[in-house]
Amino acid sequence: MLAQAIAASSAIVEGQLFSTKIDDDSVIVTRVNNELKAYSAKCPHLGLPLSRGKVESGTLTCMFHGAEFDLATGDNVKWVDSFLGLPLPKFTHDVLALGKKPCGLKHYNVTEQDGQVYLSEQA
Ligand code: FES
Repeated sequence: MLAQAIAASSAIVEGQLFSTKIDDDSVIVTRVNNELKAYSAKCPHLGLPLSRGKVESGTLTCMFHGAEFDLATGDNVKWVDSFLGLPLPKFTHDVLALGKKPCGLKHYNVTEQDGQVYLSEQA
């Protein structure tokens, strides 16, 4: 898979999400402990955009229903529990999930060379 130049290295900043596209897929790129990470920008819950999520303490929380992901690994650390930031009672969480089981984020390959960041799909 051919890597695609997406940004200058300086544009990818710790604690912030950089949004881009590869083959029409939306991707978010960030740094965790200065290491580049790239994930699908589609939330695995309902496919809504994670680029509007909140980055805090090394995790990304989807703004729509509160699913939370470890930005270092892409792993899911908390499944759905809220609606647009409003916490919902525990008994509603199964309904809110709409049958979707907790799962992590899709990974992309991301590298940097000579001040440029490159992205490609994982083989
Ligand atoms: S779409 Fe992200 S938690 Fe529902």
